[in-house]
Amino acid sequence: MISKRELFFRHLAQTSPAPLALEIEKAEGVFLYTPEGKKIIDLISGVSVNNVGHRHPAVVRAVTSQMERYMHLMVYGEIIQSPQVLLARKLTGHLPAHLNKVYLVNSGSEANEGALKLAKKATGRSGIICFENAYHGSTHGCLSVIGGDAYQQGYGLMLEDVKRQKFNDMESVTSITRNTACVILEVIQGEGGIIAGRPGFLKAIRERCSETGALLIIDEVQTGFGRTGKMFAFEQYGIVPDILTLAKGMGGGMPIGAFIASDETMAVIQDNPPLGHITTFGGHPVSAAAALASLEIIEEPGFLEAIPAKGERFVRGLSGHPAIRAIRQHGLMLACELVSGIRVQDFIIRGLENGILSDWFLFCDHAFRIAPPLTIDQQEIDEAIQLIIKTLDGLSLSNDK
Ligand SMILES: Cc1ncc(COP(=O)(O)O)c(C=O)c1O
Repeated sequence: MISKRELFFRHLAQTSPAPLALEIEKAEGVFLYTPEGKKIIDLISGVSVNNVGHRHPAVVRAVTSQMERYMHLMVYGEIIQSPQVLLARKLTGHLPAHLNKVYLVNSGSEANEGALKLAKKATGRSGIICFENAYHGSTHGCLSVIGGDAYQQGYGLMLEDVKRQKFNDMESVTSITRNTACVILEVIQGEGGIIAGRPGFLKAIRERCSETGALLIIDEVQTGFGRTGKMFAFEQYGIVPDILTLAKGMGGGMPIGAFIASDETMAVIQDNPPLGHITTFGGHPVSAAAALASLEIIEEPGFLEAIPAKGERFVRGLSGHPAIRAIRQHGLMLACELVSGIRVQDFIIRGLENGILSDWFLFCDHAFRIAPPLTIDQQEIDEAIQLIIKTLDGLSLSNDK
């Protein structure tokens, strides 16, 4: 019989020459299980998706009960679907008053596509400012605002009028002009290797956007829903977006995203012509029900408050290891810089053998990622730390030979 592994390589499009090709039979909480019953601690959460853990019972209940009522009914925006309206109400309750209109989509890329389009139509301008080492998605518009040339190669012309600036460089602020439709940024760059925006820089960007009438798009696709210890990372910086984009951790493991703006801004896509952004599956009722349940878990007293200490526990447990040069940590979003001579790919492969799943970053090739489900407890963190240390020790030893 053909193995699943063979079928994977034969029939699924591959996105890299050497995918992990790890076969998972079941996932629960912070653990993944292989068909052979091997238990692996998930230190990635599907890249910041499974914030409430794998198959949280409340999310599973919400999905099951929604499936018994209805699944897809109609393209987004025409029919009143209870999971969508309840989710939008709950989401806006966590946001500044002006962010009161939610457009539900399927993914982070689609949220950013919608946000870029919205900013251009609302301002009547075309200029877009983005930043080095940023990642906003892989569709054509998002690729135009990606933080490095390499990923654009081979794909022809990108969106016009996009300027890529240095992140955290005050000179970048002056590039925002009255021709700028929007500035798109992550307040903490995920794929850049967990690089936090400096408060002064982010404030200056916000002020310059307000002065020039450019709209500030904050992409919280990776940082949202508690990942940094706040519901949204921008809350820590005293700035607010004009358009907020969300996905990943939003759906408790189900696909959903959103771009959120004021009533007035969002109004421009509804007319002249109508249907300025169309999505068939956006805000799928089953995903919306899962998102609502997931948000209720994150809202539980003490959930967000516990996250910084969990991240710091990782830092304490790993700092000082001779293979680690530096750690950047914001809540449960960590980048561990390895000393030269130890390759991230080797760490990931050896880590898997030892029972931990880690990951690399698109724009930071000497650090590995720690972003476990936010539900991880102290004992699981300590177990993960021991396995990380065991992996690093093994790599250091083999390098010494
Ligand atoms: C900050 C950020 N924005 C957008 C995206 C794109 O999201 P998706 O893969 O759901 O399209 C990602 C994905 O990694 C991301 O990290």
